[in-house]
Amino acid sequence: MELTGKSVVVTGGAGFIGSHIVDSLVARKNRVTILDDFSTGREEFVNRSAGVALVRGDLLDQDLVDRALAGHDFVFHFAANADIKDNLKHPRKNVEQNVVATQNVLEGMRKHGIKDIAFSSTGSVYGEPEIFPTPETCPFPIQTSLYAMSKVAAEGMLTSYAIGYEFRTWIFRFVSMLGPRYTHGHVIDFWRKLRKDPTRMEVLGNGLQQKAYCHVLDCVDAIFTVVEKTSGPINIYNLGHTDTLVVNDSIALICAELGVKPKLEYTGGTRGWVGDSPLIMLDTTKLRALGWAPKHSLRDAVVDTLRFLDENLHLAEIG
Ligand SMILES: NC(=O)c1ccc[n+]([C@@H]2O[C@H](COP(=O)([O-])OP(=O)(O)OC[C@H]3O[C@@H](n4cnc5c(N)ncnc54)[C@H](O)[C@@H]3O)[C@@H](O)[C@H]2O)c1
Repeated sequence: MELTGKSVVVTGGAGFIGSHIVDSLVARKNRVTILDDFSTGREEFVNRSAGVALVRGDLLDQDLVDRALAGHDFVFHFAANADIKDNLKHPRKNVEQNVVATQNVLEGMRKHGIKDIAFSSTGSVYGEPEIFPTPETCPFPIQTSLYAMSKVAAEGMLTSYAIGYEFRTWIFRFVSMLGPRYTHGHVIDFWRKLRKDPTRMEVLGNGLQQKAYCHVLDCVDAIFTVVEKTSGPINIYNLGHTDTLVVNDSIALICAELGVKPKLEYTGGTRGWVGDSPLIMLDTTKLRALGWAPKHSLRDAVVDTLRFLDENLHLAEIG
């Protein structure tokens, strides 16, 4: 699909990944509208270039969504409640922010005759799969988190609109992203704890959970590669490194970078929280067949994240 010359809406364009999508679109000279309620997005991530419009507001407001989408050709729908760890604290939020909001975007698109949408889903949709690395065709297991459940529902809505209303949809099932503007996840949790007390640190679970990661700039590269090289009605791609890091290795890397040697206190169990998947390793053969390969190692991704956090110490106070 050719993105050149298109007017693009990026929901969640003030967030971690969405703001990098905006930067990349600006570099490609696309006209961009950011739609964000700044619930977790940050003013300092907003691209202020000429050609970028900012609409502040909630995707649950259908009129606002309709107004923001008018006159555009393509939507990157990246706004969501991205909080997986605390998903049980606010069960309705997952449905509202990830399911209802997604339908509002799709309905706004339908009103304005916009047919193309890229969506940020998650590898968590595979729950606790039995196949590793896990391919896109893996049978869907029982869902183990409300966050993943909401993404499965949103994916279902996107594919149904693609079939029912002849939309084209690009669905990306991400591993955990790292890099500049990172504001949530295990690296910032450990960083915050160690900044407060470098002598001891609580670790959720037994430290043996094993997960794949990806540098956010590689993620953005992959998204544009897929969108520009495919054009079917439904395009579903796993996105991330196939390499994994065990939580304990991550901790060792973070401690070495920060120059600290804390006493580690494990809460125990194979999962960090209810719904945590002890092993996430996605098969990215389909993505790599389009010519994409990550430019950053997992170590680079962790180090870049820590560098960003150390340059943005105010983030230690948030969350
Ligand atoms: N970061 C990851 O590792 C990761 C992994 C898998 C999937 N994802 C998905 O990628 C997308 C982006 O995640 P992120 O890490 O950049 O999260 P983020 O929290 O940094 O970004 C989400 C953005 O959406 C905005 N937003 C949330 N609800 C909104 C609403 N109702 N109306 C308008 N704006 C709203 C927030 O203010 C924020 O700017 C999400 O869909 C998330 O589920 C992220």
